[in-house]
Amino acid sequence: MEYKIGLLRGDGIGPEIVDSAVRVLQKIGEKFSHKFVFTPYLIGGAAIDEVGEPLPKETVEGCLASDSVLLGAVGGPKWDTLPGHLRPEKALLGIREAMGLFTNLRPAKLYPALKAECPLREDLVEKGFDIMIVRELTGGIYFGERGYREGKYGEEAYDTERYSRMEIERIARVAFETAKKRNKKLVSIDKANVLETSRLWRKIVHEIAAEYPDVAVSDMLVDNAAMQLVRNPAQFDVIVTSNMFGDILSDEASQITGSIGMLPSASLGEGTRGLYEPIHGSAPDIAGQGKANPIATILSAAMMLLYAFDLSAESEAIVSAVDQVLNEGYRTADIARGGEWLSTKEMTDKIIERI
Ligand code: IPM
Ligand code: MN
Repeated sequence: MEYKIGLLRGDGIGPEIVDSAVRVLQKIGEKFSHKFVFTPYLIGGAAIDEVGEPLPKETVEGCLASDSVLLGAVGGPKWDTLPGHLRPEKALLGIREAMGLFTNLRPAKLYPALKAECPLREDLVEKGFDIMIVRELTGGIYFGERGYREGKYGEEAYDTERYSRMEIERIARVAFETAKKRNKKLVSIDKANVLETSRLWRKIVHEIAAEYPDVAVSDMLVDNAAMQLVRNPAQFDVIVTSNMFGDILSDEASQITGSIGMLPSASLGEGTRGLYEPIHGSAPDIAGQGKANPIATILSAAMMLLYAFDLSAESEAIVSAVDQVLNEGYRTADIARGGEWLSTKEMTDKIIERI
């Protein structure tokens, strides 16, 4: 089979980690006789520098014509002072919207080999955790009306949280389906004691729950959830939440796995074509130094093989190669705690050798 994969390298460490994942996919291609055809497209700051806009039309068209898309990260200090609609981050929101990717699956689990990197108390580390965060990705305050205006105290800015029934229903269904395939426990996270959007969210989640009698669902307020994640992460199986809450809570969940450099994600829509991206950012402070952890992006490629191409053995080959290198004690700078560490390329080589 031939698979067309669009590459959005982006900024900062983006190019290094995407190239690592590409090399891993090439190894998979050789081993399992698949042909992966990679086509790069500009996005983010790199696109601004090259063609003057963060999300060129060719990029959107190219991604829509691909079987799947792999993304690094966007953004950096160089573009931080641009107006909002021209910022690199706008391109990421734009491509997710253009591809109709309303679901973002962010798995966060504690690797036995990385227990020492977990900042939590020993008894919590011993219990471990394996959480799937289902983040709504194309609605809410990141996509709501925003702007500047004259207010009571002069100049003011505003952003609006907005969710429709349709948007909540479809993400809730994805979450229940996900929970059904796991431990059948779903926690819906909102701020229903304050926000109208959360009250609609909660009501609809419970309506959909009637279709899934085998899944135990409960609600949790987001402030409490932030606390519960570090108090007792083992209580969670699947979490479903809004765009902004999911953005924030997934960073928190990543840190208790040891490093944000470990967390992959799959951004999905109705079809099989998705976008696969690490949850971390472009880390401009370490770009080009070989210090980036490529594992989040490599595991995102593994998610691509599974979700986009239904290649479960191939996906598993990557996941188990990552397990092996970690078990053998190999570390990148972010998980080495001052000890010896491998460069981005060396870590990638170790993973490839074990496929
Ligand atoms: C992420 C990032 C993005 C988001 C930004 C860069 C737009 O933080 O993927 O988590 O908020 O979704
Ligand atoms: Mn984020």
